[in-house]
Amino acid sequence: MNNMERVHFGSKIGAVLAAAGSAVGLGNIWRFPYETGAHGGAAFILIYLVCVVALGIPVMIAEFSIGRHAKASTGSSFNVLAPGTPWKWVGYLGVLTGFLIFGYYTVVAGWTLEYVIEAGCNDFAGKTPEQFVAAFRSFSADPVRPLAWLFVFMLMTHYVIVKGVQKGIERFSKVLMPVLFILLIVLAVCAMMLPGSTVGLRFLFHPDFEKIDGAALLSAMGQTFFSLSLGMGCLSTYASYFSKETKLLKTAVGVGFIDTLVAILAGMIIFPAAISVGIRPDAGPSLIFITLPNVFQQAFSGAPVVAYFFSLLFYVLLALAALTSTISLHEVSTAFLFEQFHFTRRRAASLVTGFSLVIGMLASLSLGVLKTYTLFDKGVFDMLDYLTAKIMLPFGGLLVSLFVGWYWDRNISYDEVTNGGIIRKGVFNAYMFVIKYVAPLGIIFIFVNGLGLI
Ligand code: TRP
Repeated sequence: MNNMERVHFGSKIGAVLAAAGSAVGLGNIWRFPYETGAHGGAAFILIYLVCVVALGIPVMIAEFSIGRHAKASTGSSFNVLAPGTPWKWVGYLGVLTGFLIFGYYTVVAGWTLEYVIEAGCNDFAGKTPEQFVAAFRSFSADPVRPLAWLFVFMLMTHYVIVKGVQKGIERFSKVLMPVLFILLIVLAVCAMMLPGSTVGLRFLFHPDFEKIDGAALLSAMGQTFFSLSLGMGCLSTYASYFSKETKLLKTAVGVGFIDTLVAILAGMIIFPAAISVGIRPDAGPSLIFITLPNVFQQAFSGAPVVAYFFSLLFYVLLALAALTSTISLHEVSTAFLFEQFHFTRRRAASLVTGFSLVIGMLASLSLGVLKTYTLFDKGVFDMLDYLTAKIMLPFGGLLVSLFVGWYWDRNISYDEVTNGGIIRKGVFNAYMFVIKYVAPLGIIFIFVNGLGLI
């Protein structure tokens, strides 16, 4: 597609919400609580917040400026901005990372559909916490059902991608985000009324810095990139659909704020609930699937109709939040094939869906029948999660900050970030300082500590 015809998001608020739709997803509601649980709670959250402000938001602004200036998806944007240089590999690495994330992320997204159906059939009613744990275990290890849901979820994503940017992505995000947000607030209030909820809140807000080691730092950094959809050019691809008027700085702060708020709200629901029903906060990736059904049952035990309605609505919204994220992941690979190899959009999307399905199937089966096939003690699912979130995304972020901080023309950067000078120079200088020094050194420092490189 040439630049003249490049589609745009229909409105400013649509652009922000589409980016927020990409960021808010399973990363906030599924991954954030279990990483927080595994690394001791409040202290992890504090470090996460520092990472969001010092790394996440600046890298997001950098990605936005690259995408909007190049008017191309991440896979081709470096070819446009730095033709004939090895920087193009940053784009290719992003496409590969996004493709791998899409593969295993959709497995969990598929689980949400199983829970939509269970909630819809009123299967949660009357179950004890132990029964929820057992039900999740047998479901996730089943060789057929999770694969069927994976397939359905991939097709849903495929459908939106083929319909195109404005009709598909934007319309979905605009309606769903606010509804999800309101429901999360209602649930947080409910969770806090459960017996024993104060212990959960203490876990969430009372830092114990003894728990912070290199691995926790690496996890917090990985979670920052994962949750904000950074480090692989996802948001830079979306920014290529932004209009000239979209304010990059404001948008990045807005997206960072919404995303963090949703994650903290999810924590405020899950920890009080987990502790109240006797589930350990470090239960791992199954955490939300075993605690949340309990919240609905217990918080509304006097009103089963409300419990039924809320649990159904919650899983529908969770599935849709996951969908706005899988769309953004899929879009990166599809747009790359479409721009580089001039496939039709439909053909490009089919290729991406087909190959991702294979990765997703392997990831899903690695939690059941393929459990014994491991590398460094990790099955395919865990390996993909570790490799992408904790290594590839921060590495991508490092390269983006080096590109913008050290290689790219500072005047172009200035023009993009300040929308032609309407933001104070001091703010821009502060941003450049972070991108040039703070972000790269911070990422390297955490890599060295977390991976035990020295
Ligand atoms: N950020 C999304 C979430 O929190 C997932 C996601 C979408 C993502 N696009 C991404 C993660 C790009 C990393 C990179 O659920």
